[in-house]
Amino acid sequence: MKFYLTTPIYYVNGKPHLGHAYTTVIGDVIARYKRIKGYDVFYLTGTDEHGGKIEKAARALGKSPRELADEMVPHFKNLWKALNIEYDFFIRTTMDFHERKVAEIFEELKRRGHIYKGSYSGWYCYNCEAYIPDDAEEEDGVKICPDCGGKGEFITEENYFFRLSAFQKPLLDFYRENPDFVKPRFMMNKVVSFVEQGLRDLSITRTTINWGIRVPSDPKHVIYVWFDALFNYITGLRDQFEKYWPADLHIIGKDIIIFHAVYWPAFLMALGYSLPRTVLSHGWWLVDRRKMSKHLGNVLDPHILIEGFGSDAVRYFLLRETPIGQDGNFSHEGFIERYNADLANELGNIVSRTTAMAVKYFSGNLPSPSPALEVDRKMEEQWRELEPLIDRAFENYEFSRGLSLLWGYLRGINKYLVETEPWRSGTRDPKRTSRILLTSFKALHASLKFIIPVMPEAGEKIRKALSGPEEFSWDAYNENRRIERLDHLFPRVDKAEFFKEEKMEEKKEEKTYVTIEDFFKMGLKVGKIVEVKEAPNADKLYLLKVDMGDHQRNLVAGLRQYYSPEELLGKKIVVVTNLKPAKIRGHESQGMLLAADVNGKPYLLIVPDEVPPGSMVR
Ligand code: ME8
Ligand code: MG
Repeated sequence: MKFYLTTPIYYVNGKPHLGHAYTTVIGDVIARYKRIKGYDVFYLTGTDEHGGKIEKAARALGKSPRELADEMVPHFKNLWKALNIEYDFFIRTTMDFHERKVAEIFEELKRRGHIYKGSYSGWYCYNCEAYIPDDAEEEDGVKICPDCGGKGEFITEENYFFRLSAFQKPLLDFYRENPDFVKPRFMMNKVVSFVEQGLRDLSITRTTINWGIRVPSDPKHVIYVWFDALFNYITGLRDQFEKYWPADLHIIGKDIIIFHAVYWPAFLMALGYSLPRTVLSHGWWLVDRRKMSKHLGNVLDPHILIEGFGSDAVRYFLLRETPIGQDGNFSHEGFIERYNADLANELGNIVSRTTAMAVKYFSGNLPSPSPALEVDRKMEEQWRELEPLIDRAFENYEFSRGLSLLWGYLRGINKYLVETEPWRSGTRDPKRTSRILLTSFKALHASLKFIIPVMPEAGEKIRKALSGPEEFSWDAYNENRRIERLDHLFPRVDKAEFFKEEKMEEKKEEKTYVTIEDFFKMGLKVGKIVEVKEAPNADKLYLLKVDMGDHQRNLVAGLRQYYSPEELLGKKIVVVTNLKPAKIRGHESQGMLLAADVNGKPYLLIVPDEVPPGSMVR
C-alpha cells in the first residue's frame, strides 16, 4: 500500500503566499491521513527555477537567476515548517540529477520521433510562460493573455515541437476509461472538451531564453520550462521511482490543469510510462474577488495568520471554508468567525470541560463506569454511522464536507454533556459520571482520526491529554487511561481587538489627505440601469447598459452572485465616468459603479428615484 502525491513546484519569482500554502496544506492533510491508514506515503514538493519568467524577475532585481532561487527556497521551506508540512523531498529543478534526466528524456523522445524541429511565430505571454491563443483579445494590435491579462509579445522561433496532436485520440480514450482522472468532475469535463477541440503540436524549446536546460544535441535550444518542470514528478523520486511511480495524486490549482491533465499524460504516453491516477484541481483564494497572485500584488502572507492563530487554525480554515474545486474569498473577519465558532467554542470547549471534570472529580483516573444508558449508546451508534461517511468524504478529498459532518458530531458531544449533566452527578455518583466522561472521551478520541491530519498539533495534544492510543476507533479507547487537564487549546480571539492594529493603519491613511481638486477629478455621475445581460463566458459578471442622461454606457459588474437582473433593472446608481475603460473577460467596461463592501459582499449605492440620470455626484 503506497501512496505518492505531489504539489506543483512553485516559481521562485516571489515568496509563497496563502494560495501556495493552500495546495501544500491539502497535500499534507492527505499524506497524514493516508499514513494513519497504514500507507507508505511519499509526499513531494519543491520549486520551479528555470525559464524566462525567473530570468526576467532576477534581472529586474539585479541578481542572477540562481541567486534569486537560492534566496527564495528558504522562504518556501520556512513556511512549510511553520505550517507543519511533512514532505519527503523538496526538489529544485536546478538540481543536477533533474537537469540530466530531463535532457535525457528529451533526446529519447526525439529519437522516437515524438519531437521534431520546426518554426513558430506567435504571441507569447512571459508571465504565464505560454503562447496566447489566436482568438485572444487584442489591445492596440497587441494580444492580451487571457489568463493573466498581461500584454503578449510577438515572437518567431525555430523550435523543437512535441507531437501533441498525435495524442488526441489516446488521451480521449484514456479519459473515457478513467473518468475520475481529474477531480472534481466538472474539471474533467473541461479537459475533455479542450482536447476534443483538437490539439496542436507543442513548442518545447526556446532560443530566446538562456536560463534553462540545454538540448544536448542542439545546445542553442533551451528546454521549455513546463517540459522541464513536469518531469520533477519523476526525477523527485530519485532511486525510489520503481517503488512509488505512478503518482497517485497530483494536487494543483485550476490555473495549471491543462499542463497536468493534457500535456503531462501525453509526455508520459510518449515515453511509455504509466499514467498518474488522479489530478486534483482546486479553486483560487480571492481577495476582493480577484485571484490572489504575485502578479497582481494582492497576496496574503500566511505567517501573519500563523502568528495570530496558530498553524492548526490556518490549516483547518483552508480546508473547511471552501470545497476543493471552488474559489474562496478570503477575509480576516470570516477567518476569525470560523475560528471562534468551530475551534474556540466547539472543539476547545469540549476538551477543556471534559478533561477538567475528570481531573477535578477523579484526579484524572476514571473509576469503573456504570452500564451505558440509551443516551450514551446513542453517541456510539451515531459515530458508527458517521465514521464511514466522513472517511468517504476524506477519501474523495471533500474535506469541507467531511469536517462539516465531524463538527456536527462534536456539537453533539456538547449537547450530550448538557443533557447528561455530569457536573450534577459529580462525585456523588462516580460510576455514572465516569460513564458520561468515558463516552465523551471515546467520541473525542475516535474523532482524532480526522482531526490529527488536519490539525496535527492540537490533535496530538488532545491524544496526550486523554493518553489515547494511536489507533483511532470507538473501541480503542477504554477507562484505564489517565486524563490530564487541557485548557486554552484555541483561545478566543476578540474581533475588535484584532482589528485594532488595522484600524491604526486606517488612521494613518486618513492623514494622507486628498485635496478638493483631487476629489473633483473623479467624474461621479448618476446613471440608470436600462439593460442587464448575463456575460456568456463569465458566470459572475453582468453586462449592464446604463443611461447617463445624454448617452448610454456599457458596464461590466461582478454582481451576479448578489443581485438578480430584476433587482438591478431601473435602479439609479453612482458611476465613475472617467475611469480608463478596461476589458473584463473580453467585454469593455466604460466606468465603474459604486457599492459598499461588507466582508466582500457588495451593496449597491442606490440613488433616490427623483434624481435624473447624468446628475453630478459631489
Ligand atoms: O504554476 N489560490 O507555479 P506558481 C489558490 N511553476 N492556489 C494558488 C493561488 C491562489 N490564489 N495562487 C497560486 C506554477 N496557487 C508552476 C507549476 S508544476 C510542474 C509547475 C497555487 O508559483 C496553486 O496550486 O505559479 C497553483 O496551481 C500554484 O500555486 C501555481 O504556482
Ligand atoms: Mg502562477
